[in-house]
Amino acid sequence: MQKLIQWIDERLPIVDAYNNHLGKYYAPKNFNLWYFFGSLAMLVLVNQLVTGIWLTMSYNPSAEGAFASVEYIMRDVQWGWLLRYMHSTGASAFFVVVYLHMFRGLMYGSYQKPRELIWLFGMLIYLVLMAEAFMGYLLPWGQMSYWGAQVIVNLFGAIPVIGDDLSLWIRGDYLISGITLNRFFALHVIALPIVLLGLVVLHILALHEVGSNNPDGIDIKKNKDENGIPKDGIPFHPYYTVHDLIGVAVFLFVFCVVIFFFPEMGGLFIEKPNFEPANSLKTPEHIAPVWYFTPFYAMLRAVTVDLFGLPAKFWGVVVMGAAIAILFVLPWLDRSPVRSMRYKGVLSKIALTVFVISFVILGYLGIVPSSPGRTLLAQVLTTLYFLYFILMPFYTRMEKTKPVPERVTG
Ligand code: HEM
Repeated sequence: MQKLIQWIDERLPIVDAYNNHLGKYYAPKNFNLWYFFGSLAMLVLVNQLVTGIWLTMSYNPSAEGAFASVEYIMRDVQWGWLLRYMHSTGASAFFVVVYLHMFRGLMYGSYQKPRELIWLFGMLIYLVLMAEAFMGYLLPWGQMSYWGAQVIVNLFGAIPVIGDDLSLWIRGDYLISGITLNRFFALHVIALPIVLLGLVVLHILALHEVGSNNPDGIDIKKNKDENGIPKDGIPFHPYYTVHDLIGVAVFLFVFCVVIFFFPEMGGLFIEKPNFEPANSLKTPEHIAPVWYFTPFYAMLRAVTVDLFGLPAKFWGVVVMGAAIAILFVLPWLDRSPVRSMRYKGVLSKIALTVFVISFVILGYLGIVPSSPGRTLLAQVLTTLYFLYFILMPFYTRMEKTKPVPERVTG
């Protein structure tokens, strides 16, 4: 074995790679449960890739055959139901895990210097993940697949001048059709997964270049022993490989409970109209995207006024786009001298709490049908969402922060 490793290592630096990323990669010793979600995101990514490959073996990407092939997978393909539920539940799990992972970043200021690139790669991952989920959702060719895609692709039509041509170009047809299904299939199973994998590699490489942040937001590299090893660091392997297994065990337990007992999650993970085949002549009574898109959908619907001769729908699209775009510049909005919420002032704490509550309620408002009262609430919450970012340069500088200790606090 030793000889084999040596033989390979002379041709490919596997020992160096192992040391740099595992055996001699020193991570802060005070990681808490919020640090499980990065490794869990990788686990869910692998789950999606593997179950996706197997689903593709029995799926038929055509308007005539797609719906029936999914039924065939559910009823006739051996273990097909499990593969499908692992994939559909996996999509929702991906967003649960990624949202918690991002929240950890907000809480501990992990996007701050020198980790801006990690955050930017993360945001690109988030964008691609949304495109991936959106395109995957068309594939079962159910009523909600069809009409959801119709609504979202039509949004591009609201862009002045190029809008109509753009949505025609995306669909490849005048309405969502088998042609659209074919291209979404190609993008969903090949193009976007490759981009996603590439971005995850860049995300991890950027992370390992500067090292992980931690709940105290302390730079552990500032305090090294005589061998140059951070005093508050421990080797990633075996300490965090074993530690992460606890997260994996708890996650798999919950994941299995959902797959085996609540795979549709009361219409949240697989919506009810999707058990009917797509019908271009019959619009479902109430069209709503899957839960992970609903905060942004609620922002889209919150815009109700025509402005500067452009329709409200256009401004809704602008607000929705801005809600995602503003997350990209977060590292440059936070002017706090400290990273972690533990040492930030009360204003930052209030701002983050209000932001999270607004996002969750917007998510709820995007699921339920709109009413005048709900639209007003969505307008207030959308404003609060943006204020979190717009006011950040001010409240992070104004507030009084607590002194950061020299060493991590455990
Ligand atoms: C496929 C999706 C993703 C995967 C597989 C992934 C993976 C990871 C892993 C393994 C880590 C190190 C472990 C940890 O700190 O939890 C990490 C750290 C980090 N990720 Fe992600 N990530 C993903 C998406 C995102 C997104 C969407 C964002 C934010 C926009 C993000 C922002 C960060 C940041 C800021 C860190 C450094 C955290 C720190 O050191 O405190 N990641 N990621």
